[in-house]
Amino acid sequence: MAISRRGFLGTAVLGSVGLGLQRKPSDSSPEAAPLKTARKPVLICAANGFRYLDEGYQLLSQGHDTLEAALRVVRGPEDDPNDDSVGLGGLPNEEGVVELDSCCMHGPTRRAGAVGGVHDIKNVSLLARAVMEHTGHVMLVGDNATKFGLEMGFPRENLLTERSRKVWILWKEFNSDRDWWGPGLADPHWHAPTPQGKPDAERWRQALDRLQELAAAAGIAPEFRRAAIQRVLYPPTGTIHCSALNEKGEMSGTTTTSGLAWKVPGRVGDSPIIGAGCYTDQDVGSAGATGSGEENIKVCGAHTIVENMRRGMTPHDAGMDALQRIARNYNNDKSRLEYVDMTYYILRKDGAYAGVSLWTGYEPGKPHKIAIHDGSKRLEQCTPLFEGVSQEWPPMPDIPAELRQQSAW
Ligand code: GLY
Repeated sequence: MAISRRGFLGTAVLGSVGLGLQRKPSDSSPEAAPLKTARKPVLICAANGFRYLDEGYQLLSQGHDTLEAALRVVRGPEDDPNDDSVGLGGLPNEEGVVELDSCCMHGPTRRAGAVGGVHDIKNVSLLARAVMEHTGHVMLVGDNATKFGLEMGFPRENLLTERSRKVWILWKEFNSDRDWWGPGLADPHWHAPTPQGKPDAERWRQALDRLQELAAAAGIAPEFRRAAIQRVLYPPTGTIHCSALNEKGEMSGTTTTSGLAWKVPGRVGDSPIIGAGCYTDQDVGSAGATGSGEENIKVCGAHTIVENMRRGMTPHDAGMDALQRIARNYNNDKSRLEYVDMTYYILRKDGAYAGVSLWTGYEPGKPHKIAIHDGSKRLEQCTPLFEGVSQEWPPMPDIPAELRQQSAW
């Protein structure tokens, strides 16, 4: 899904303010969770795949393979330098290296492929398929996954676009009064570290002013500065999943991501993990995830959902159960769960589908959405387990409300 683009100024982002923490009623009844079915090709994906659904649907309608159609959709964000959550232009790890993860499952042949921590290759969803088709393995990682891709003829590309590089530099510079990156003590532009004793408002006024200066110095275009500063303060995750069903009832799924911005090098999230970021069972259905990768791995989200459907749950209820398992891992403690978010995209073999999310959205008025194409293309709001907005992790910027209201920074 599109990365979190919380407009943190002008929106209530602090603490639990604005959270309506009511649990949605458990709704297995048809009234609460209408079954959506279709006897035609169906594609579902995260909202950032919306504009690419037509191409994928055309392939399905022409009788092409379901995995080919799903890959066509996710290649869109992978190729887009301005989608900084996936592929080219993805935000890098803390060392400035863009590390990509992906997996895919092909229902008709019951095969799977995955890659993790790939650098210098943009279309890792296709690389995951290459692992599936050209090796006897399921998953390759790191330098050797990249090497395999280059040997298979994937072009070597610098994935760090100028735009993402500048945001990374901004992130480094902002933190550099607490490390050995410049400016050093002798630098005429050296600033004393932000005094801890100062009131929050004063500290954050200074910090935001400094971010503005640093963004200008890094050459970040004025119209992108606000978004760049958001990415520094709230390291985003971003991903796309797509599941496909054709008229023959064949299914496939794929998920691809650049993972968490500024992550520890080598960190792999849920997206390349078969059963977490994506799972497809030709007999049952397909599911995929975007959001807090670490939490999804712990509940094997996509596999859990497909198994739930195998046991007779609707897509909606199957997804809600996986979300409840995430909540259960924190004893339903909302003070922790508010820093987690997860969206599941679920497609059953009969064409029934659902989009469900842990929270309504990242910010008020912008709910999580699932994109669907079953002959008509549309976005639908995901059903949340908890109503309210999630908070970003880490909760670094404890920005006072009065500063959040200012437009000057
Ligand atoms: N869900 C994407 C990630 O956590 O890497």
